[in-house]
Amino acid sequence: MVESSASPTPFEMPPRRAFAQLPTPLQPLERLSSQLGGPRLWVKRDDLTGSLLSGNKVRKLEFVLAQALAEGCDTLITCGGLQSNHCRATALLGAQLGLKVHLVLRGLRRSGVVDGNLLLSQLAGAQVHCLAPARYALERDERMAAIARETEAKGGKAWVIPTGASDAWGLWGYINASAELAEDYRAAGFRPDAVICATGSGGTHAGLTLGHQVYCPDVPVLGMAVCDDRKYFQRRYREDVEAWEARFTPATPDGGWRDPEINDAYIGPGYGLAEPEVFDTIALLARTEGLVLDPVYTGKAFHGLLQELKAGRFGGAEHLVFVHTGGVFGLFPQREQLADALGWWRR
Ligand SMILES: Cc1ncc(COP(=O)(O)O)c(C=O)c1O
Repeated sequence: MVESSASPTPFEMPPRRAFAQLPTPLQPLERLSSQLGGPRLWVKRDDLTGSLLSGNKVRKLEFVLAQALAEGCDTLITCGGLQSNHCRATALLGAQLGLKVHLVLRGLRRSGVVDGNLLLSQLAGAQVHCLAPARYALERDERMAAIARETEAKGGKAWVIPTGASDAWGLWGYINASAELAEDYRAAGFRPDAVICATGSGGTHAGLTLGHQVYCPDVPVLGMAVCDDRKYFQRRYREDVEAWEARFTPATPDGGWRDPEINDAYIGPGYGLAEPEVFDTIALLARTEGLVLDPVYTGKAFHGLLQELKAGRFGGAEHLVFVHTGGVFGLFPQREQLADALGWWRR
């Protein structure tokens, strides 16, 4: 695998390993845009970063794993939900690089649960440690630290990746993607009125916010929360940016880094749980544009975008860009909810 330097940049980026298929396309949603009659909608196809290594996590892992490998690690330890896209991407990349992978997962494996991302993670040989949700909240970090100690006692070296790879290295993934997007906007001949993405652990939105401030400062980036509220993501953003600055000392723009823009009105019943309308949005995008979203992240976020459009939130906008961060494997374990919401049983 070739070490590659990041795109030309005013930032001093750390080394990255080229795992993703980049650049991903920026595509207009012609039929949906004319059906809605508002701004022209575009999609940055980060669901196409790879067939199995699909989605946003790969961009972050390009930087995180470059560091882990530079430090001589032979084991990766990370965590997430049973259907974590990040854990699946880490498991597959670990297998590709010949590294051992441990996943500490929130939820218990029962028959019928080994599906979607969990199925792929297990297939890739990751060692899965399942904790019931209450224990996960209390014991996750200690469990990862214990696995790291065990690895080291056996002469190995472990790299612990936090939820969603949203750490100081992971942030570079979407800072780098912002340079790619700035080039996409230039090539397509427009400047978006806003960029919209799903936000779960915060790193994608934080990276896009920082990167856009540098590469196209007039373009706002809106994060659609899928789990926690606005306050949580504002605090999380400040902490993540502080950790990133402490580690990489980037030149701070005049006036400092801007505040994040978060909309938390479309979380619905909670993380991983979607209202029937989200499934309607997923079906709308699939049949109108051949674009598949998932109920945990992109479907919720796009549904929020459509509601905001209807409410006039983007009045006067000409171009909006939605970052499709992947997640298709999270659709399959929710097949029953999807079929219920779309009334397939009644046909
Ligand atoms: C498909 C998908 N989209 C969006 C997100 C949100 O990204 P982030 O965790 O960086 O906020 C995630 C992961 O959490 C994801 O798996």
